[in-house]
Amino acid sequence: MKKKVLVLMGGFSAEREVSLSSSQGVLKALESLGHEAIPLDVTRDIRALVHALETHKPDVVFNGLHGKWGEDGCIQGLLEMMDIPYSHSGVLGSALSMNKVVARKMCSLQGIRIPEGKVVSLKDIAERRVMPPPYVIKPINEGSSVGLSIILDKTTPLPDFSNWPFEDKVLVERYIPGREIQVAVLNGKAMGAIEIRPHSGVYDYEAKYTEGKAIHLMPAPIHKEAYEQALEWAEKAHQVLECTGVTRSDFRYDDTEGEPGKLYYLETNPQPGLTPLSLVPEIVAHQGMSYEQLVQWMVEDALCRQ
Ligand SMILES: Nc1ncnc2c1ncn2[C@@H]1O[C@H](COP(=O)(O)OP(=O)(O)O)[C@@H](O)[C@H]1O
Ligand SMILES: [Mg+2]
Repeated sequence: MKKKVLVLMGGFSAEREVSLSSSQGVLKALESLGHEAIPLDVTRDIRALVHALETHKPDVVFNGLHGKWGEDGCIQGLLEMMDIPYSHSGVLGSALSMNKVVARKMCSLQGIRIPEGKVVSLKDIAERRVMPPPYVIKPINEGSSVGLSIILDKTTPLPDFSNWPFEDKVLVERYIPGREIQVAVLNGKAMGAIEIRPHSGVYDYEAKYTEGKAIHLMPAPIHKEAYEQALEWAEKAHQVLECTGVTRSDFRYDDTEGEPGKLYYLETNPQPGLTPLSLVPEIVAHQGMSYEQLVQWMVEDALCRQ
């Protein structure tokens, strides 16, 4: 069944460029599937957004936004109020997942291991009163490694907070050495775990979105027990955080003392990236699902949840 699909893209969060890149692939896939795909660059002009939604009257909205307002329940609330079906998670699932502090707490209650961590002010960090290094500083509500700093030892310079665009409170976590593991969950079911090895050693914004900056290993070549645990925890996280559609949960795997090592949950992404270098398309491809089939599934999933 051909549908009119409005693709929300861009947005006005720190991840605007990621969203624009992801959405190009989605638009192409929708067109090749025979849908009527309408791109809509979301700006701060909410009236224009409402007007476009009212004018186009889409069968479904494909939410291609990332980060604040697009991934945290805000846009989802607007679509609920306008009674328009949309892809990915709903208001609650998006809000719970996007807040790393809430997601950590809820997952920890399910028995999922999380790195020791706490919420601190920028002032606490500047005065080096948080925890002994190594530790990681990250904004509570962002993605794509935006605002991430790793303080490996006492000599590592602290980030310059003079132009810090995020909240004054940040999450500080113990740095977990080892490997980078991510799991895609579709329809509540884990589709597989992938390992990413960034050449620079850090999975930062550049390693995520520049070709040739990281190696992807699918399936992740880790101990079977750890692999199974990653799948199980990703499914649990997806469920406890009330997510729907597709999510991606990120983990660190500390095998520095041998295999099987210790797995640590970092976060669940309710709007995982769909760029050519993104992990969800690669994980599902390993299960025989093409990019087009993934996009088609998300459209149908959005429609049947209405
Ligand atoms: N506690 C930690 N220990 C080691 N590395 C971490 C830790 N937290 C984050 N990182 C690194 O930073 C990356 C981004 O962190 P993450 O929590 O997934 O936030 P986001 O992807 O939303 O920016 C991770 O993929 C990982 O490479
Ligand atoms: Mg992440």
